Amino acid sequence: MVKRPRRLRTTAALRTMVAEATIRPEQLLAPFFVVPGSHEVQPIAALPGVARYSVDRLLGQLERALALGVRSVMLFGVVPNDLKTPGGEAAAAADSPVAQAIRAARAAFGNDLVITSDVCLCAYTDHGHCGLLHPTARGVVIDNDLSLAGLAAMALAHAEAGADLVAPSDMMDGRVAAIRQALDAQGFTEVGILSYAVKYASAFYGPFREAAGSAPQGVSSRYNGMIPPTDRQTYQLDPRNAREARREAALDEAEGADLLMVKPALPYLDIIAAVRAQTTLPVAAYQVSGEYAMLKAAAAAGACAEPAAVAESLLSIRRAGADIIISYYTLEALSQGWLE
Ligand code: PBG
Repeated sequence: MVKRPRRLRTTAALRTMVAEATIRPEQLLAPFFVVPGSHEVQPIAALPGVARYSVDRLLGQLERALALGVRSVMLFGVVPNDLKTPGGEAAAAADSPVAQAIRAARAAFGNDLVITSDVCLCAYTDHGHCGLLHPTARGVVIDNDLSLAGLAAMALAHAEAGADLVAPSDMMDGRVAAIRQALDAQGFTEVGILSYAVKYASAFYGPFREAAGSAPQGVSSRYNGMIPPTDRQTYQLDPRNAREARREAALDEAEGADLLMVKPALPYLDIIAAVRAQTTLPVAAYQVSGEYAMLKAAAAAGACAEPAAVAESLLSIRRAGADIIISYYTLEALSQGWLE
């Protein structure tokens, strides 16, 4: 007798009845870039349809997200070059764009919105690295332990402003523990950590670095003529490695992370599945800027229909095991009904 799996594909109603993966708005986390000033809406050429907003304009976007059913956002700060220093101190300022945005969003929306903030020094250091530089006999290195205090201070500033979750994306070893300890010591025991636990040294972050002005610079002047690394391969994961992803996830869980993230998403579906199988914590996956830009470019070139391609990409990330997806498509896909 012929087995007939096609029977369950006969009508749209049947297909929906047996559908496995779904994407609900509350499973999507919308990223936003925040700049100083007011009335600022700065389109980002590398990310068509995405803009940087000053706090006053950001509020309107958050309201729109809430109206679409989105419950959580991730905030990234962008500051002018004259505020950037070797130590990235502006990251921890009480009046940083992100801290101001957190306060304003909390005042406007109360606890309806889960406010998550990216914690990393790369948009605040003049050299663009996620940690601090230190000259050694082997050249300039990104000094792991020297970077932890600054990261913890940044997380603390966001907690003081009212963040629900801080999300360290720097990939320094031990930063989850350092941030947890700093938060607890100041009484922020209920502020959670969404760790970018498994973040690969990826070619797909280019548009983000343009948006945030956070590309590693390779400046030599301050380091006796020694040139710092021009990429992040000494701290982000090697794309050849899968076992190492499981190790990173396990370490961050042990250090006290409340949620684990895998990043990028589409080229790392195997990693999402592996982390999902290993942990009982919620797993998030970040559909990064390059993934978004690729889909936009493919759609613009007529290579695929954008609504279906976006839905299929997001579904694949859910099917692989992600509970939460961070995506620049969140508002557009929901408002256009692409995920229904
Ligand atoms: C900061 C950070 C980056 C991203 C998120 N946080 C950039 C990087 O590591 O260079 C990338 C997000 C994206 O590409 O959408 N460290």
